[in-house]
Amino acid sequence: MHAYYASRAPYYDAVYAKPERAADIAWLQQRLPEVFAGREVLELACGTGFWTPWIARSARRLVATDGTAEPLSLARTRPGCETVHFQQADAYALPAELQGFDAAFAGLWFSHVPRERQAGFLAGLHACLQPGACVVMIDNNEVQLRDFPIAETDAQGNTWQHRATRDGVTHRVLKNFPSEAEWRALLAGRATDIEWRMLENFWWVSYRLS
Ligand SMILES: C[S@@+](CC[C@H](N)C(=O)[O-])C[C@H]1O[C@@H](n2cnc3c(N)ncnc32)[C@H](O)[C@@H]1O
Repeated sequence: MHAYYASRAPYYDAVYAKPERAADIAWLQQRLPEVFAGREVLELACGTGFWTPWIARSARRLVATDGTAEPLSLARTRPGCETVHFQQADAYALPAELQGFDAAFAGLWFSHVPRERQAGFLAGLHACLQPGACVVMIDNNEVQLRDFPIAETDAQGNTWQHRATRDGVTHRVLKNFPSEAEWRALLAGRATDIEWRMLENFWWVSYRLS
């Protein structure tokens, strides 16, 4: 994952230039500042920071993290991110100082979390948040399979794609497509106000931490 996203960082944002994604992106860029207005937000796996300025414009404070140095260095220079604190951090082992946030966001990240690590990942994230915190995650829906069909399914039910970077290297990339039912099961007893939305190209889940 790190090698793949390090190699792809310089042209990663091309995924957001696809015309068929424009309406969803416009909706998300309106909704994110509304949801995070006045909040102290922890962003995970921010990558090149495509969504980061849309959160930063209304958040009280934003700490944006990613596990890979290359996309993070591009995010640091993105217009609209001047007030954001960027930090390299593994989403599975968040540093102890990342505590007390009342909101969290992860874009196009949860699809890369193996099914057997989903509950543990969420527990680690939730430990950084206050009770009542607002969490939003968005990711590609199955429409993305037109570009990258599933190449393999492993014993845990994780689905894998083979993706080539421009240097000619083919990477084996985990890409899961969780359903609303799977999200509700993961959040059972842990969250309220669960909202699930299926857009044309993306899914959205938001919830309030119990
Ligand atoms: C599909 S990109 C999403 C980037 C951005 N959030 C977006 O929506 O455009 C996935 C990101 O996850 C990061 N990543 C991979 N493994 C990670 C880990 N263990 N902890 C934190 N970030 C990780 C990669 O570096 C990459 O930037």
